[in-house]
Amino acid sequence: MLSMIPRLIGHRGAKESAPENTLASIREAAAQGVGWIEFDVMLTRDGVPVVIHDDTLDRTTDGHGPMNAVDHAALKRLDAGSWFDSRFAGERVPDFTEVLDLARSLTLGINVEVKPYPGQEEETAQTVVSVLQQHWPDNGRLLVSSFEVPSLETVRRLAPAVPLGYLLWEPPPDWAAIAGRLRADTLNVDQERQTARSVAEYRATGRPVLAYTVNGGARAAELFSWGVSAVFTDAPGRLQREMVAL
Ligand code: G3P
Ligand code: MG
Repeated sequence: MLSMIPRLIGHRGAKESAPENTLASIREAAAQGVGWIEFDVMLTRDGVPVVIHDDTLDRTTDGHGPMNAVDHAALKRLDAGSWFDSRFAGERVPDFTEVLDLARSLTLGINVEVKPYPGQEEETAQTVVSVLQQHWPDNGRLLVSSFEVPSLETVRRLAPAVPLGYLLWEPPPDWAAIAGRLRADTLNVDQERQTARSVAEYRATGRPVLAYTVNGGARAAELFSWGVSAVFTDAPGRLQREMVAL
């Protein structure tokens, strides 16, 4: 069953203040007072689930090349913090299990985004489900999401009770039918595309609407006034302050 999700979800931790999708970013999100975090899970060449957004190493580490060409041992030697700021030198690309352990110790809820390397939609989802079954077995304070329908189908088949979020960017014409077939619990939509009318249309399916990625307090307030339930933000502390000041 879907837990209550707070209004703000830290996007890749708190990526405005720390290198995205690292343990430091998750600690920073918790320090900024957020109750939930979102992060992205992809497989290494040898099938280990790790927390990284891009399908190449270049932007967020000191390595190079595609994610499906790096083994876990080699990945763990890369620096995932210096590109952001020298204060974060030595941060690593975390394992999915490390992030789960840290989130639990900080009592954070989690939105696990299945972010498959192209062609690994089912395998990535299978691995995410099997790690969650061992490390986060009660489904509480959990939402698993993906843009990839084959990944979502795999999660739903293997874990019928897992709260599932259908991520939409350019919604296909049959998005409502897909959401129904998946028994999606939430619709996670691109905030830039939203209007009062589009949010009403999503909400008419009976599902909470979550919007990514919102980094201004006035825009967050507008989305909430249209009935959006929660927003993903790179800057939870700043957004909270901006909304209070409105
Ligand atoms: O899950 C919300 C958001 O993270 C989706 O887009 O590209 O930032 O993973 P992206
Ligand atoms: Mg994401």
